[in-house]
Amino acid sequence: MLSLRKIEVKDAKILFNWANDEQTRLNSINSNQIEWTEHIKWLEDKLKNTEHNFLFMITKADKNTEIPLAFVRFELKEKWITSIVISPHFRGQGLASKCLSLGILNFREFIKEPVYAYIKENNISSIKVFLKNNYILVRNKNKSLYKRID
Ligand SMILES: CC(C)(COP(=O)(O)OP(=O)(O)OC[C@H]1O[C@@H](n2cnc3c(N)ncnc32)[C@H](O)[C@@H]1OP(=O)(O)O)[C@@H](O)C(=O)NCCC(=O)NCCS
Repeated sequence: MLSLRKIEVKDAKILFNWANDEQTRLNSINSNQIEWTEHIKWLEDKLKNTEHNFLFMITKADKNTEIPLAFVRFELKEKWITSIVISPHFRGQGLASKCLSLGILNFREFIKEPVYAYIKENNISSIKVFLKNNYILVRNKNKSLYKRID
């Protein structure tokens, strides 16, 4: 069974590893590797700025151990932007849609405004995951913009 909790500073290392994973970097708007000091500063900043950031860890339980599966994030920039990273150990197992869905459900307890995602057009698995969660393509120029139909 999947659970959701808020991201904490103790998650810094695992998020750092997931963020620097090759596939994650390739699918990010900025594909450069991330430095640890830059990452910590980034995370602390997001955790402080709680009105503009909802950062969730999706986990499953194995006996009494919590296994982190996914990082689902909503950030208010010019609009609310969604992103998801599945742990490299758990990719390709059909978990992403459920993790995103759980993240959206929790985000919607706090924020009712429209929510979007930027997805590179060659990131086929991500496109499928967002389409399954009611996001539709609204702009296909440079980076593709998707909007969730609630
Ligand atoms: C994109 C990402 C979230 C998808 O998670 P995943 O665990 O790999 O994907 P899933 O196993 O849940 O599969 C999702 C869908 O894509 C399909 N899929 C997976 N790999 C595919 C491929 N190479 N080509 C086509 N379809 C593919 C699956 O069949 C599934 O479709 P279905 O629901 O219709 O069966 C994950 O790969 C990831 O974290 N990537 C790095 C970060 C990233 O790109 N984030 C998205 C940007 S917001």
